[in-house]
Amino acid sequence: MKITDCEASLREIKSGGSLVGTVTVPGDKSISHRSLLFGAIAEGETTIKGLLPADDPKNTANCLKDMGVKISPINSTEIVKVEGVGLDGFQEPEKVLDCGNSGTTMRLLLGLLVGRKNRHFILTGDKSLSKRPMRRAGQPLKLMGAKIDGRSNGEFAPLSVKGEQLHGAIIGTPVASAQIKSAILLAALTAEGSTTVIEPANSRDHTERMLKAFGANIEISGEMGRHITIKPGSNLKGTHIEVPGDISSAAFWLVAGSIVPGSDITIKNVGLNPTRTGILEILHQMGANISYLNTKEIAGEPVGDIKVVHSPQLKPFKLDGEIIPKLVDEVPILTVAACFCNGVSEITGASELRIKETDRLEVMTRQLRNMGAKIEEHEDGLTVYGGNKLLGTEVDSETDHRVAMSLAIAALLADGNSTLSRSNAASVSYPEFWNELSKLQS
Ligand code: S3P
Repeated sequence: MKITDCEASLREIKSGGSLVGTVTVPGDKSISHRSLLFGAIAEGETTIKGLLPADDPKNTANCLKDMGVKISPINSTEIVKVEGVGLDGFQEPEKVLDCGNSGTTMRLLLGLLVGRKNRHFILTGDKSLSKRPMRRAGQPLKLMGAKIDGRSNGEFAPLSVKGEQLHGAIIGTPVASAQIKSAILLAALTAEGSTTVIEPANSRDHTERMLKAFGANIEISGEMGRHITIKPGSNLKGTHIEVPGDISSAAFWLVAGSIVPGSDITIKNVGLNPTRTGILEILHQMGANISYLNTKEIAGEPVGDIKVVHSPQLKPFKLDGEIIPKLVDEVPILTVAACFCNGVSEITGASELRIKETDRLEVMTRQLRNMGAKIEEHEDGLTVYGGNKLLGTEVDSETDHRVAMSLAIAALLADGNSTLSRSNAASVSYPEFWNELSKLQS
C-alpha cells in the first residue's frame, strides 16, 4: 500500500495495509490566518510559532505584504515575524489583493479594510473563490457604513472596498459563521461606538480569544456567550502566538485510524478548542477507540495528543444543525467514515457545505458514488448507507483540498487501487499530507 506520483496532481492510491505511527499535523489554518492579520494591525512585533506553511495562510501574508506589512518567510521550521503597522497603517496597495482559494482571507480582509479611510482596495480570488458568496460578510459591514461593491451587486469577487469611517452597530448574523463574525469584529476595532455581534449558534471563537490576547476591549455575554461586543479605542499590541495543530487536518487520521484495520496512530499537539471538537464527539458516539494524552493550554487554546486505534464495529451517526458549526470542515471525511459504519448515517442542517471551496455535499456524493457508495443527497445533507464495499476507481478532488484528502482515505479501504486527480489541492491546508500518509503506511 503505497502512493506513487503519476504526475504532479494525479496520484495512485493503493488499497490495503494499516496506518501505524505518530504524526504531527500542521498548524491550525484559522489560527494561522488570524495571527498574521492581527499581528499586522498591532503595534510592534508579533512572533508566530507553528504557523501553517500552506497556500491559504501564504495568500493572507501576501495580501498583507502588498499593503506594506513586513512578514518573514513562512516555512515549517522558523518562527514567523510580523512587523505590525497599527490599526490605521495599511498602505493603499498598487495591485489587486489576491486571496487565492481562501474564503477566510477574503472575508476577514473585508472586515479589516472597510474602515481604512481614504484608501481603495480590490480583492480577487481563484475560480472557486470567485463563485463563493461574499454579500453575507459585506451586508453586515454595510450596516456599519462600509462601502463595498462587486459582481452581482456585491455578491462575488472581484470586490472593491472604499475605506470609510464606520459606526458601531448591533448585528445579528443569520448563520453561525466565524468568518462573518470575525469580519464584523475586525471592522468594529476602528468604528465610532461599540459593536455587538449576536450569533444564532456558536461558531469557532479563535478571533475572540486572540483579540483578547492582543489587548482589544472585547466582552462576551448573553445566552451561551453569543453576544460579542467590541469597544474601540484600545490599540492592539504585538504578542507571541503558538499555533496548535489543526484538528481539521487531524480529522483525516482520526477517521483513517478508526476505519482501517490494524491502525494505531498518535497525533501530536492537536488544538482541542471546544468550538472545533465536534468530530471527536461524533467519533465517540460511533464507538471509536480514541484517547487523549498530555492535554494542556498553550497561548489561550487547549491542546493535546490524540491516540486512535482501529474499531471494527463503528455505529452510524446523526449530524444536525446544532453540531455542524463545530465540525463544518469535517463533514467530507465523516461522510467517508459513514460508508464504513454498520447502518445508515444521516447528515442534516448542513447547507453551509454547499458554499465551501466546492459544493461539498454534491462533490462527495458524486465521487463516493463513483466508488460504489450508497449515498442520497438532500438539500441540506446526506443519507449514507454504510457497509457497501467500495471499489478502487478514478476519483477527482474537483480542486477541493478536503475532498482530496477524504477520497484518499476512502481509497485505502476500497477493493483495488484508485487514482486521484487534482490531488495537489491538499496543499491549500496540508502540504505534507501525502508524505505523512506514506510514512504511516510503511
Ligand atoms: C473558518 C470558518 C469556517 C470554516 C473555514 C475557516 C475561519 O467557515 O469552514 O474553513 O477560519 O473562520 P464559516 O465560519 O464561514 O462556516
